[in-house]
Amino acid sequence: MARGRFGVWYERQLLARILDRGMRGVDPLRGELLAPASGRVIEIGFGTGANLPHYPAAVTSLVAVEPSEGLAAHARARLAEWGRPSTVIVQSGARPLPLPDASFDAVVITFVLCSARRVPALLAEARRLLRPGAPLLLAEHIAAARGPLRLAQRLLRPAWQLCLGGCDPTRDPRPDLIAAGFDVSELREQPLDLPIVVRPGLLGCARAR
Ligand SMILES: C[S@@+](CC[C@H](N)C(=O)[O-])C[C@H]1O[C@@H](n2cnc3c(N)ncnc32)[C@H](O)[C@@H]1O
Repeated sequence: MARGRFGVWYERQLLARILDRGMRGVDPLRGELLAPASGRVIEIGFGTGANLPHYPAAVTSLVAVEPSEGLAAHARARLAEWGRPSTVIVQSGARPLPLPDASFDAVVITFVLCSARRVPALLAEARRLLRPGAPLLLAEHIAAARGPLRLAQRLLRPAWQLCLGGCDPTRDPRPDLIAAGFDVSELREQPLDLPIVVRPGLLGCARAR
């Protein structure tokens, strides 16, 4: 994430707006994805808090992990109005979080693994924090399986990453999820209402095996 005063200004003023506007197409999916969440939830890669209005009433508390200081400022403001217990942790989810093992009833990760560094470490941390049997609720755009769109994703990747905070349209998190010990059989592929380069989507619930 960007460092220094310009970086924080960029993240707070520009990146936050780009994310809020650019991701609106997936808002209808958020409620459906988060419907099974309940109890203590941790969201890794909280961004500006686009998932917040979609958490069901059964969610009693939320820990928001967000490494960008500029975005975390938005997150704090939004959570202050949420009316349920919440905490913001400003660090990468790929580093050990100051939280006990098996302390959450759900982990939420949406549109984060496309840009995160050290995805295996992030998923290991997600698994450590989940109580046995609890869901990882996940939504990501993924690499197209084949054809012209796959080629376009590869060709556009450098410019896309440069303009959109490192977002890589050619990733698929399933191998890393499986390596981290998650069962991915409940994840489904679904087109997303996003620009065509990031239209192939993957969403649903992954559980620790
Ligand atoms: C495209 S935004 C998605 C924000 C939000 N989850 C959503 O669904 O709109 C990606 C977010 O992932 C965060 N992120 C990137 N790498 C991360 C990491 N290693 N740990 C936690 N968050 C990370 C970014 O700071 C950014 O807020």
